[in-house]
Amino acid sequence: MVCCTSMTRVQRTELSKIEQTRLYPRLTNPNFLVLRARRLIFERWIKSVPGTSLRVLDIGGRYQPYRPLFGNRIKSYIACDILSTGLVDVVARGESLPVRGEHIRCSDLHAGFEYFGQPIEASAQVHRVLKPDGVFMSVAAFAPRFVDEECWRFTPGGIRTTLSQFSAVEIAPETSSIGGLLRASNLWLHWLVRFSWGQKSPRSYDLSLPELACTGTRVRPSDEQRPVHG
Ligand SMILES: C[S@@+](CC[C@H](N)C(=O)[O-])C[C@H]1O[C@@H](n2cnc3c(N)ncnc32)[C@H](O)[C@@H]1O
Repeated sequence: MVCCTSMTRVQRTELSKIEQTRLYPRLTNPNFLVLRARRLIFERWIKSVPGTSLRVLDIGGRYQPYRPLFGNRIKSYIACDILSTGLVDVVARGESLPVRGEHIRCSDLHAGFEYFGQPIEASAQVHRVLKPDGVFMSVAAFAPRFVDEECWRFTPGGIRTTLSQFSAVEIAPETSSIGGLLRASNLWLHWLVRFSWGQKSPRSYDLSLPELACTGTRVRPSDEQRPVHG
């Protein structure tokens, strides 16, 4: 389904606040370490995508914190999400992308894989729409659960299995084990302060699992013969 919505200035301001917070998190943000590392990893990967007029597909692009990292190299940017905001071009599930095959040079699925009911199907869809030698970037959570909509958690082995159609897979941890423990402690503290001040109920923070690593993946589907490496 293609979607055409307009946005009020208030909505645009709210979305751009979320984007800024994710791209340039403040030190007080309990996810500072992970979000900062994610920006640096994506910056490096996006720089290495060849070409100056890229067709980009953003799955889960309700807001688009990493879009500025492409600079002026974007020819077209299609944002697909199950929720419509003024930034979403196509309301659809990542598991059934209404995009023609071999059309996209670079696809990203930021804060992503854990949301798909059928992650392997989503991976196959991305593989289908990418041009040969196209690049796919994503994150897959290994952290505590944040919202009830999240379905999965991934280990490096799980990511390789999910992306088994792709030839070259690079997995970059977003924090070290110590960083993961620090993040878990930060989340605990953040939660305790908010809860004790009665600002917000903890809702779905499940703090029993420490975050040891998050991952990003990068895939070149044309290179079918190359071995998969970590
Ligand atoms: C945590 S947000 C990430 C937003 C942004 N891309 C980022 O990196 O910060 C995850 C997004 O994925 C969307 N989403 C969840 N399930 C989806 C699905 N099956 N297909 C496409 N988008 C989905 C959600 O609506 C949400 O906008």
